Order: sequence, then C-alpha cells, then structure tokens
Amino acid sequence: MARVLVYYAHPGARYSRVNTRMAKAAEQIDDITFVDLYARYPRQVIDADAEQQLLRDHDVIVFQFPLFWYSTPSIIKEWQDLVLEQGFAYGKGGTELAGKTMMLAISAAGPEDAYTEAGYQHFSLRTFLTPLEQTARLCKMRFATPYVLYAALKAEEDTQIASHVDGYRRILTALRDDTLDLDAIEAAAPVLTCSSSLIPGDT
Ligand SMILES: Cc1cc2nc3c(=O)[nH]c(=O)nc-3n(C[C@H](O)[C@H](O)[C@H](O)COP(=O)(O)O)c2cc1C
Repeated sequence: MARVLVYYAHPGARYSRVNTRMAKAAEQIDDITFVDLYARYPRQVIDADAEQQLLRDHDVIVFQFPLFWYSTPSIIKEWQDLVLEQGFAYGKGGTELAGKTMMLAISAAGPEDAYTEAGYQHFSLRTFLTPLEQTARLCKMRFATPYVLYAALKAEEDTQIASHVDGYRRILTALRDDTLDLDAIEAAAPVLTCSSSLIPGDT
C-alpha cells in the first residue's frame, strides 16, 4: 500500500460544483490523508515544519484544485514557497521527497480544444503546468500524468461531473493500492481523463 496525501485547495468552495464533490469523495476513502489547505490555513500562515513531516510520512502527493489564471490557487504557491525548502526538498542534502510521486487533479473552464496552439488559450494545459512539473523533478519526484476535467463550468452534474468524481475516487484508491499503471498512463496521453480505460474499476 502507498501512503497517499491529498492537498485540496479551493478559495471559493461554496461556489464550487466540481471540486467540493471531488474533495468529499477523497475524504471518504480509507487510509488516505486529506488536507483542505484553505480550511487548515484560513490566513495562509503555513506551518512548514508540520507540512514537511506530512510529506515525509507519505509516498504520493496529490494536489487537487481548480485552474486559476493558468496556475494554482495562491495557497498552493505559498505552500510551495515555504515548505519546499532547500536542504529538505532540493539542493545539498535535500532528498526528503526523492522517489515520491506528485499528481495533479485539475478542473478548468476552458474546453480541451482551447488548450492547443490554434485554440484561444494558445498553449496546452501541460505547458501551463510546467512549473509544477519541473518543481517535482527538482525535488526528485515523479510527476504523474495530471487528471483533468476540461469545460468544468459546462459539465452536467449527473453525468460528466459524476463520472469525473468517480474516476478520481478510483484513481486515489488505485494509487493507495499501487495498482495504477503510471507508465502506461504517461505513454497514452498528456492528460488523464475519466474516460480512460487505464483507471482501474472497482474490484
Ligand atoms: C480567479 C479565477 C481564475 C480562473 N482561471 C482559469 C484559467 O486560467 N483557465 C481556465 O480554464 N479556467 C479558469 N477559471 C475557471 C475555474 O477553473 C473553474 O471555475 C473551476 O475549475 C470549476 O471548478 P469548481 O466547480 O470546483 O469551482 C478561473 C476561475 C476563477 C474564479
């Protein structure tokens, strides 16, 4: 079993249709650790020592958030700046995260075809995520293929959102059980969506 830690960040949770449902599903999975960053740190005063210990105690770190201005909500940036210290996460002696996995679970308002060179966002979603990808690499972590819901504002609750939430639940369960084939997922596509046959079903 892998020790999975989910960091959830949404500053406007009461307006959320997608992420609150994903968070609720994540919280209900046995033997994973779920942290709502805005609930834990409403004033964004991050306890770096506590977070570093949490990271030491887990193998897989999942960041779940809505895409905000092509990036993370600000608390994740604050968390990065304070927690991923030199000598802990990178640099001389900074090997505490080596061998762990980072995975992102992201919702975006833009549709998939907008995130192309010809589309109105001009760049792929993976291009927008390169700072996080390289952060993982610098910390000697594996950057797993991100799990994505495009066109999140148009997604129907009973169909697309429900499938996305169920896919998330199955991904987290498989990460915990070491049954997610990250190599096959990485070879298949730049992002993972709930329609992928590579997400294990319930056994
Ligand atoms: C401040 C702000 C910035 C946003 N920036 C982006 C963006 O850069 N790209 C995008 O596709 N959607 C963007 N969105 C849309 C959110 O990603 C979308 O509302 C969210 O993923 C829906 O999830 P929720 O129902 O959990 O809130 C933005 C929304 C807000 C409020």
